[in-house]
Amino acid sequence: MIALGCDHGGYELMQEVKAHLTKRGFEYKDLGCYGTEAVDYPEYGRAAAEAVASGECEYGIVICGTGIGISISANKVPGIRCALCSDCFSAAATKEHNNANMLAMGARVLGPGLALKIVDTFLDTPFSNDERHIRRIAKIEKGE
Ligand code: RB5
Repeated sequence: MIALGCDHGGYELMQEVKAHLTKRGFEYKDLGCYGTEAVDYPEYGRAAAEAVASGECEYGIVICGTGIGISISANKVPGIRCALCSDCFSAAATKEHNNANMLAMGARVLGPGLALKIVDTFLDTPFSNDERHIRRIAKIEKGE
């Protein structure tokens, strides 16, 4: 299950992400927003992050205009490693190295074609399980 959250700036791209996830056979939990009327991105970043942190969802995808505000909001929730990605290299690396559990994207930054490739790369790339990455992630979690 994938937690989804967006603001009005990310709403249109999120509709494309939802259709793509369905086509690929992924289930999602849509935590809003539900239209293009202006809303506050922290509410939706937090809601998606809490669904991931609680274990209800394995991953989260959040979208706002830049991806910045909603990623900052998601990363305030303990246990969340939300990576803002605008390219496939970063989307793969953040799974391999950071074991990121959330992906953030900027709808005013990316076209839908690249955004969906980034989603695929993020979901399809496994964590490396390398000892050095496990150690570094543990330091993030402990605030060291
Ligand atoms: C909304 O206008 C915009 O500020 C928001 O989508 C996002 O870009 C914030 O970081």
